[in-house]
Amino acid sequence: MMNSFNLCVPVTVSPLLKKKKMCRLSFLLILAVQSALPAVFGADTYSRYDFPPGFVFGSGTSAYQVEGAANEDGRTPSVWDTFAHAGFMNGATGDVACDGYHKYKEDIQLMAETGLDAYRFSISWSRLIPHGRGPVNPKGLRYYNNLINELIKSGIQPHITLYHFDLPQELEDEYGGWVSRKIIEDFTAYADVCFREFGDRVQYWSTVNEPNIFAIGGYDQGIAPPRRCSPPFAFNCTKGNSSTEPYLAVHNILLAHALVAKLYREKYKLKQQGFIGLSVYVFGIYPFTNSTEDLTAVQRASDFFIGWLVHPLIYGDYPRAMKQNVGSRLPAFTPLELKQVKGSADFLGLIYYTSITIKDKSSSLEEEPRDFNRDMGVEFITNVNASQIFEEPIMPEGLQQVLEYFKQVYGNPPLLIYENGRQTRRNTTLRDTERISYIHAHIGAVLDSVRNGSNTIGYFTWSFLDVLELLAGFESSFGHYYVDLGDPDLKRYPKLSADWYAQFLKGKSVGPEPGALIEIGSNLSAADSK
Ligand SMILES: *[C@@H]1O[C@H](CO)[C@@H](O)[C@H](O)[C@H]1NC(C)=O
Ligand SMILES: *[C@@H]1O[C@H](CO)[C@@H](O)[C@H](O)[C@H]1NC(C)=O
Ligand SMILES: *[C@@H]1O[C@H](CO)[C@@H](O)[C@H](O)[C@H]1NC(C)=O
Ligand SMILES: *[C@@H]1O[C@H](CO)[C@@H](O)[C@H](O)[C@H]1NC(C)=O
Ligand SMILES: *[C@@H]1O[C@H](CO)[C@@H](O)[C@H](O)[C@H]1NC(C)=O
Ligand SMILES: *[C@@H]1O[C@H](CO)[C@@H](O)[C@H](O)[C@H]1NC(C)=O
Ligand SMILES: *[C@@H]1O[C@H](CO)[C@@H](O)[C@H](O)[C@H]1NC(C)=O
Repeated sequence: MMNSFNLCVPVTVSPLLKKKKMCRLSFLLILAVQSALPAVFGADTYSRYDFPPGFVFGSGTSAYQVEGAANEDGRTPSVWDTFAHAGFMNGATGDVACDGYHKYKEDIQLMAETGLDAYRFSISWSRLIPHGRGPVNPKGLRYYNNLINELIKSGIQPHITLYHFDLPQELEDEYGGWVSRKIIEDFTAYADVCFREFGDRVQYWSTVNEPNIFAIGGYDQGIAPPRRCSPPFAFNCTKGNSSTEPYLAVHNILLAHALVAKLYREKYKLKQQGFIGLSVYVFGIYPFTNSTEDLTAVQRASDFFIGWLVHPLIYGDYPRAMKQNVGSRLPAFTPLELKQVKGSADFLGLIYYTSITIKDKSSSLEEEPRDFNRDMGVEFITNVNASQIFEEPIMPEGLQQVLEYFKQVYGNPPLLIYENGRQTRRNTTLRDTERISYIHAHIGAVLDSVRNGSNTIGYFTWSFLDVLELLAGFESSFGHYYVDLGDPDLKRYPKLSADWYAQFLKGKSVGPEPGALIEIGSNLSAADSK
């Protein structure tokens, strides 16, 4: 994921907090106010057999965050490489990352030992098709074939994301990437290669990872690749328009998604029997007060964050509140496009970490110019305290709220929770009991929701390894396995949460306490005291 990035979105709503660093550091602070929310999580002790048969448990990474080998075997830079090399990730880059490109076999062995049913990863477009379109890179093809074959051999289902923030830089330079309609043809051709080459072994495909956050970070606030934005919303971009481009980028993403789904259904579905989805970043959203204004603001925020993507996919058009507030800056679907977009997702991937509290700020609708936040007209309540970044409260009830929302508002579509996990400081300790509490509480919340009729069919932790994080670089970590960056061999060490998850995946009844259940690897203490 890109947690610091995600969570900084609401914070930057406040003009006082626009500075990137602040934003990066203060994302958790928005949570502080919610401690009074009712805790409804479920059973303290449960096992995977409490879930319906076929419910999938996994973990994930993404290409730029794990692969490394950025300049090897014909890969060309993506917009994320450019961003990292310009110094926007605390100096960290994905040049080496976890060296997953070379260590995939070892990692898959760890996945098998951990007992994952499924592994979510993404394909680096510029590794597979170095110029964004045209010839396929045989070495890129071989790498992904090897990776998929190794997973299948180990009994692990691949869940593939086609696009995880890493557009080939050449396409960005040539026509501006996602703000141009030209992207639709190139993305569809890239997807075609993936389905043709890998689809015989892959059932779950996501087109684009959290387009809502991608658009806000990359095209409004300019704090993430491809860094497009305009004043007064952000100041350091060389190109962009914060008032229009986030909407344009998401529009083109939805159209590209729809055409990719159409292609799959017409050309591959019958033979490959797979499913096409798209992932959405979601929050639990709570009102600051129960005033009509705040309750309406909650609905607006849901429409802007979730409805922006999901409303078109389910109902064929943007939510009314968005059409009203954004006006002519919101692109319109033609009748044909509308038909193609509606129903084009077989499932939705949800990225859930946290909840937010908001308050009405419809006065921002009188301002000009406006961006996403002003169009949404809400204020995020923050108790800003940067020192608490790694101590966010654990609020699984927000996840239940979201799952209930999809059930009631969107007709209970199949959902895969594609990211959920706990950020900690990197390399402080392998004894990540906080991560266990977090994951335990959230799996419990999912169980409650499933028992209450939610059509959630899988749950993935983020992340399998301590990967490179967008914005935070190597300062924070979400992984079950620590990667020793000081070791030329980048050795992996299991944290307690790897053992906890393994116990759960192997069918044991687990509670929130790691202690009794954990068998600590013999090398753990050595690594811990390094
Ligand atoms: C961004 O712009 C501000 C204001 O112009 C400037 O002070 C700051 O140094 C810039 N930051 C970067 C990272 O370029
Ligand atoms: C952004 O686009 C809108 C609509 O075309 C235009 O009115 C506005 O001037 C543009 N802003 C910038 C900074 O280019
Ligand atoms: C709003 O009302 C609900 C339901 O009565 C209650 O649970 C909640 O605490 C109230 N929220 C606030 C902020 O007062
Ligand atoms: C921030 O956290 C520190 C340490 O926990 C605490 O001393 C301080 O009072 C907090 N500040 C605010 C504004 O909450
Ligand atoms: C369970 O589902 C019902 C029907 O959708 C809903 O009214 C209720 O609020 C749900 N309970 C929880 C705890 O989400
Ligand atoms: C990890 O932490 C240990 C001490 O706890 C320190 O010696 C080592 O340099 C750290 N490694 C990295 C990569 O930060
Ligand atoms: C422990 O680490 C050492 C040094 O890295 C290695 O040689 C040894 O095989 C490891 N033992 C286990 C059980 O993993």
